[in-house]
Amino acid sequence: MILSGRVVTISRTRIHCGPSAIQELHTMLLMQEYRNSRIFVLVDPNTGKHCLPLLAEACPELGAASVFEIEGGEESKSMLTAQKIWDELLAAKADRHSLLINLGGGVVTDMGGFVASAFKRGIPYINIPTSLMGMADAAVGGKTGVNLHNLKNQLGFFYSPAAVFIDTRFLKTLPETHLRSGFAEIVKSALIGDAILWRRILRQGAGNIFAMNTADRIWQEMIMKTVTFKNRIVCQDFRELKTRKILNFGHTIGHAVESLHLGNDKKTLLHGDAVALGMIAETWLSNIKAGLSDTETLEIITFLKTLYHKQCGLLKSSVTDTTRILDELCNLLLHDKKNKNGEIRFTLIRSAGKPKINITAGRDEIRSALNTLFE
Ligand SMILES: NC(=O)c1ccc[n+]([C@@H]2O[C@H](COP(=O)([O-])OP(=O)(O)OC[C@H]3O[C@@H](n4cnc5c(N)ncnc54)[C@H](O)[C@@H]3O)[C@@H](O)[C@H]2O)c1
Repeated sequence: MILSGRVVTISRTRIHCGPSAIQELHTMLLMQEYRNSRIFVLVDPNTGKHCLPLLAEACPELGAASVFEIEGGEESKSMLTAQKIWDELLAAKADRHSLLINLGGGVVTDMGGFVASAFKRGIPYINIPTSLMGMADAAVGGKTGVNLHNLKNQLGFFYSPAAVFIDTRFLKTLPETHLRSGFAEIVKSALIGDAILWRRILRQGAGNIFAMNTADRIWQEMIMKTVTFKNRIVCQDFRELKTRKILNFGHTIGHAVESLHLGNDKKTLLHGDAVALGMIAETWLSNIKAGLSDTETLEIITFLKTLYHKQCGLLKSSVTDTTRILDELCNLLLHDKKNKNGEIRFTLIRSAGKPKINITAGRDEIRSALNTLFE
């Protein structure tokens, strides 16, 4: 792993992180391994417009690369889009040594990783995250995937990128709604792994976070700490048999809420927003199931509800029949990939920085936790 020009080798994936990390891609592409490879760059309309010029300037060798553009947004993370990219790769006579560079948020990196993992039984790929969600989470860790119908990430592989370049300059053009969504993963990381970072975020105050320029030291630090933490966990347990499950805090309920919105064709709830709502409900569960103190429970829920009050409002306003929605959410939870023998399993926290995995909860407890979102 390479942070701010310093080299720390942790895993097979080389991670470069810092305000001008993409300069390093230029060096990498000159390596023997990639010198004669056909290169393809995957973008969505926004990253094609805002991020590709910066990348092309840093890496002139990409002038000969073919650029594939997919539609933006969660709905395009589908088999249909994957099929279109595979068709384009075939038409362009891509071979097993071709390199796919995913330039975008989590949708592009999840999709590109999925396409790369299956094409010719696996071609190398590189992730260049351009959203905060991508930088803090999606681009690192080798989970690739697409949605199946309205169910999140039901198809996918564990398949590591050859390298990840986290260049925070891309954040300059990221809309605040997406900055807020990505920030949920930074909060999650602090809550499961870094009590000091959590205290720092709390001190900063929910109202002030987005008033700061993303080039500020605190943002750089938060991103680096989150990436380093995730990479450490992934290196310990790549296939999520044990430790990696801690990264799912907030995601069990978060994915159910997100799937509900996808299914209802309500596109305004972003992945990170859903995770934030999931963390509110799972903090409540942590209080009754994992011994999280009343003080910390209140602190976390208050912080998240302040920062994500619009998203809570959106969920409430989209619901006319709370009883029916609670049932639907409970049914969606049955599809969670952590479940075993029909039991719904959660990652909860005992206190900030102290996660606990594989905690089961009954339907009534889950319904009460979900109710915190409607209060
Ligand atoms: N694989 C994993 O481990 C993992 C982890 C977390 C999230 N995810 C997945 O990531 C996805 C969400 O990622 P996301 O929030 O980045 O969504 P996204 O990829 O849809 O990006 C958000 C929006 O920001 C735009 N955008 C991205 N970078 C930009 C930039 N620099 N300037 C201007 N606009 C920019 C995109 O075009 C898009 O409209 C979900 O599908 C989620 O499941 C995967």
